[in-house]
Amino acid sequence: MAQYRIATIEGDGIGPEVTRAAMAVLTEACGAGALAFEMLEGGAGHYTKSGEVLPDDTFAGCRDADAILHGAAGLPGVVYPDGTEVGNDLHLRLRFRLDLYANVRPIKLLPGVLSPLRAFEGGGIDYVIVRENTEGLYASRGAGVVLRDEIASDSLVVTRKGTERVARFAFDLAAGRNGAPRDGQRRVTVCDKANILRSYAFFRRICDEVHAGYPDIAIDYAYADAITVHMLKRPDSYDVIVAENMFGDIISDLGAATVGGMGISPSGEIGDGHALFQGAHGSAPDIAGQNAASPIATILSGVMMLRWLGRRKVDAALVSAADRIEAAVGKVLAEGRAVPRDLGGAATCTEVTDAVRRALV
Ligand code: IPM
Ligand code: MN
Repeated sequence: MAQYRIATIEGDGIGPEVTRAAMAVLTEACGAGALAFEMLEGGAGHYTKSGEVLPDDTFAGCRDADAILHGAAGLPGVVYPDGTEVGNDLHLRLRFRLDLYANVRPIKLLPGVLSPLRAFEGGGIDYVIVRENTEGLYASRGAGVVLRDEIASDSLVVTRKGTERVARFAFDLAAGRNGAPRDGQRRVTVCDKANILRSYAFFRRICDEVHAGYPDIAIDYAYADAITVHMLKRPDSYDVIVAENMFGDIISDLGAATVGGMGISPSGEIGDGHALFQGAHGSAPDIAGQNAASPIATILSGVMMLRWLGRRKVDAALVSAADRIEAAVGKVLAEGRAVPRDLGGAATCTEVTDAVRRALV
């Protein structure tokens, strides 16, 4: 296995703990020396000390690395004068400057994990939300209008390029999957509000145009309000969902809640030349430093990283390591070897990490 540079930003709160946990599992699975973790500064804590949330050398390190692994960022009360959070800006700056246009959130119910939805056992829920990650309502971050302390506005931006590439990403993803659990049909569901707003009707029209190149994959549509009902009533009918940035942000967390919560939900933010992987949870400052956080979301984000890198570098050893880690996590959860607190157990971050490392075969 070649050696790969992994730009690593531990960040704030539980970020350092879950990052180190993932690094230990990744190193165990890939072998010493395969992954060179370059530890880089950034986040709200760094901002309070230096005035910089994303130092230039951290950005350069991320730009030049093979992949980016991030713990979490954000601390309560550390905000800009306009009221927006500093910590999140680390993430958003990397997202926009490296053009990470597909925010990929697998929603998969693993054996041994209880869903709040009745009648679903491990395996009954298995879909992926692909959120457009560089425009939509987020195009207005840092650019919104606030006038005379009486009116504020942010614009929703939908471009042809931005929609085409995220739709293509979604259809390509569906082409490599086995379809929805309910019927095995490869399907992309477009989540929008095309019935009300022209920008979403435009988003849907571009998705339809892209779909024309994928005759073997079905397309259907769900309004952003209606999809929240379907995600609870018939989650097994979904395969891949594509959505504008803000809608994607909202339904991603709803989806995560149906399969065990944010502590088990990985994410990969992927562009044409770069990708950032992190657990979907936040920095959870209330439990920081207590060895109480679950490392599973960050470990599974490391699985996503190895798979992305393995495809990109045509390195089967990386993909094999990813499969072994995913199987080890599944075994630990299915057999209840070390259940983290957010899943009803009492295992510490270290105990879960060590159990996953021992379960690697
Ligand atoms: C997410 C988070 C981010 C977002 C924050 C951390 C900037 O909620 O990745 O879903 O709002 O997109
Ligand atoms: Mn979010």
